[in-house]
Amino acid sequence: MIEIKNLVKKYNDKIILNGINADISDGEIFSIMGPSGSGKSTFIKCLVKLVFPDSGRIIVDGEDVLGGKNEFELARMRRNFGYLFQDGALFDSLNVMENVCFGLRYLTDIESSKYERIAKEKLSLVGLKDIQSLRVSELSGGMKKRVALARAIASEPKYILYDEPTTGLDPVSSEKISELIVSMQEKLDITSIVVTHDLKLAFTISDRIAMLHDGKFDLAGSPGDLKKSEDPFVKKFIKDSICHDMKDVKNK
Ligand SMILES: Nc1ncnc2c1ncn2[C@@H]1O[C@H](COP(=O)(O)OP(=O)(O)OP(=O)(O)O)[C@@H](O)[C@H]1O
Ligand SMILES: [Mg+2]
Repeated sequence: MIEIKNLVKKYNDKIILNGINADISDGEIFSIMGPSGSGKSTFIKCLVKLVFPDSGRIIVDGEDVLGGKNEFELARMRRNFGYLFQDGALFDSLNVMENVCFGLRYLTDIESSKYERIAKEKLSLVGLKDIQSLRVSELSGGMKKRVALARAIASEPKYILYDEPTTGLDPVSSEKISELIVSMQEKLDITSIVVTHDLKLAFTISDRIAMLHDGKFDLAGSPGDLKKSEDPFVKKFIKDSICHDMKDVKNK
């Protein structure tokens, strides 16, 4: 379980997160939506201490993430998390296989003889086969996203943080990713925190959706709660997202 209490993050003097509170249960798919620049990526970076909050608490399985941890303790805590970065963050100098195995090598105690089998299995799960030896520069944007996803799930962590998992993907690939997030939850009881602009994805997969607005979660409820919400910001966000998606369809 992840408990977030009154989380505040400023960059210079600009307040980005202004008192976030949330409890995320084990096995839950918890999505975060909100306008560009509202602090969604900042929020998930705080969870693994890639960004250091100014105040508040983050408690993962009873343990205070922000307390004075040495490198060893921090690495142990991060082992519980898979992270799909918004830009993929693959290593250009490594090939696909090496990228997917990276976390296995540094974050787990799995024997190295098993890396290749695990990597192939995860790549096939995200719909990629026979590309193990390609270099990152030889991949399309969508392929990079899926390789990054295979890397994030390779060690079967307890929590996976997905930052825009479907952005830049075609509808069929988006659907696959959506199914994958749900199957990771169902088969492995993984807890997912999904940052997304993709309303269809959020409505399809989420147990709860939080709306980040003015540094706070305006609402954290089921997709049904969101659809019924009378909160003007939530209503406008949903309406604008639908209009945006329809414009996309018209332009195709
Ligand atoms: N390292 C940083 N230093 C200073 N400002 C930053 C830094 N990282 C992010 N910001 C600022 O913090 C705000 C929130 O950024 P963040 O990337 O968290 O937004 P986001 O909600 O993920 O946006 P998007 O939907 O475009 O990905 C933005 O105004 C951004 O410019
Ligand atoms: Mg972001």
